[in-house]
Amino acid sequence: MTALGKVVRTTAFKLSVIYFAVFSIFAVAFVLYLSWNTNALLEAQLKDTIEAEIRGLAEQGRSGGLAAIFQIIEQRSHTPGASLYLITDVNGRILTGNISQVPADLFERSGMGMVTVPYERNLGEGPRHFAMVQVLRLPGGFWMLVGRDIGEREEFRAIIGRALIWAVALLIGLALVSWFFVSRRVLKRIDSVAVTSRGIMAGDLSRRLEVTGTGDEFDRLANSLNAMLERIEHLLLQLRDVSDNIAHDLKTPLTRLRNRVEAALAGPPSDEAYRAALAATIEESDRLIQTFNALLMIARIEAGPPDGALSAVDAGGVVRDVVELYEPVAEEKGAELEAVTPEPITLQANRELLGQALANLLDNAIKHALPDGAERPLRIVLSTAREGNELVLRVADNGVGVPEADRARVLQRFVRLEKSRSTAGSGLGLSLVNAVVAFHNGKIELDDNDPGLVVTMRLPIVTPP
Ligand SMILES: Nc1ncnc2c1ncn2[C@@H]1O[C@H](COP(=O)(O)OP(=O)(O)OP(=O)(O)O)[C@@H](O)[C@H]1O
Ligand SMILES: [Mg+2]
Repeated sequence: MTALGKVVRTTAFKLSVIYFAVFSIFAVAFVLYLSWNTNALLEAQLKDTIEAEIRGLAEQGRSGGLAAIFQIIEQRSHTPGASLYLITDVNGRILTGNISQVPADLFERSGMGMVTVPYERNLGEGPRHFAMVQVLRLPGGFWMLVGRDIGEREEFRAIIGRALIWAVALLIGLALVSWFFVSRRVLKRIDSVAVTSRGIMAGDLSRRLEVTGTGDEFDRLANSLNAMLERIEHLLLQLRDVSDNIAHDLKTPLTRLRNRVEAALAGPPSDEAYRAALAATIEESDRLIQTFNALLMIARIEAGPPDGALSAVDAGGVVRDVVELYEPVAEEKGAELEAVTPEPITLQANRELLGQALANLLDNAIKHALPDGAERPLRIVLSTAREGNELVLRVADNGVGVPEADRARVLQRFVRLEKSRSTAGSGLGLSLVNAVVAFHNGKIELDDNDPGLVVTMRLPIVTPP
């Protein structure tokens, strides 16, 4: 693209051209309107003056006859001024007046009222002038012409014309100046955006677009883009976290898996030993797959809602379903399950995720709350309640609970407490619950149930559309 082509394509140039065009149209229209009106006013004034003069002459004629008119015109013709007079006989011969030359056919056009004609003065001063005149027929076949020079009007027209040219020139100047400043400002900001994005593309995700604080379109754009960058950075950090976790926490079981197979191969060949090694391998692989799935699910939840992820959900229904699902497991463990759902609470939520979170908490209570062979029976209560505009979901057990110092920690990925080392699990259950709560813009608390643990989830009730 040529340099000129580049300039013409810029927004600044296009805007300047549009401004220039709009302003020019207004300026020209304004000046034309002004000149047309002033012209009309001047013309009306001229006509008035001429008519007044004719009325005066007619007055004189009525009292003093033709002679009086002749005398007045003779007299006025010799006083300098813009008024013009002429009296001719029937044949057009000039009898008196201060005009020496008028168009030959003027007197035939006498019926036309006020007309504009070229004329020459008595004084023979050279270039011809224009006048507005009225021709009248006097008794006896004489012609009388009364008029006024319109030089003033022409001069005024010239002034308006010059003003118009100046106005357009000024507008062109202003358009150029505005183009210069707009392009400098706009292009500078766009350049800064380009520089920042290049920096970001080069890998520095912490960079943000400049916000000048003027609140203009660029600021708003920069703010939106910065919010987007913030989100992308956050997601990437999470992704990095997940891959770090995978690296750390999946490496151990994978290594264990490999070593077991190696040991089986290195040992004396025996069907029995191979079979046992393969069975253990499958078991370990299943755990790995579960962990992978849990990790992926958390990552997906944290990435935000996919389309159609939310629907109208009755919280009580979800709780009752989960309780029903876990009834057999609880029974096997000798645990007592109870759902307390006094009122239906409907909110816009993701039913599967809510169910998964409750299931994880229930699973934890069954698995971790009481050690095998404890003398008191395990009792787990799931409840829903409405507090203000919040849905409060609680899972409470009467087990050993989680020490206060560990309550924030257990929500993190792969964190399991020492006492749970013997149970199966990867330490991702509560991380998933945490992610589900965050997905619904809610809050989660772990408290002492005296005895036991109570997990409280508070979700804002978003009414379904
Ligand atoms: N109801 C509970 N009572 C006592 N301790 C609990 C309870 N729930 C969770 N914990 C403790 O918190 C830890 C983290 O729980 P989390 O659900 O995240 O992992 P997990 O249950 O060990 O494994 P996973 O859920 O992945 O199978 C558990 O290992 C356990 O020590
Ligand atoms: Mg768990």
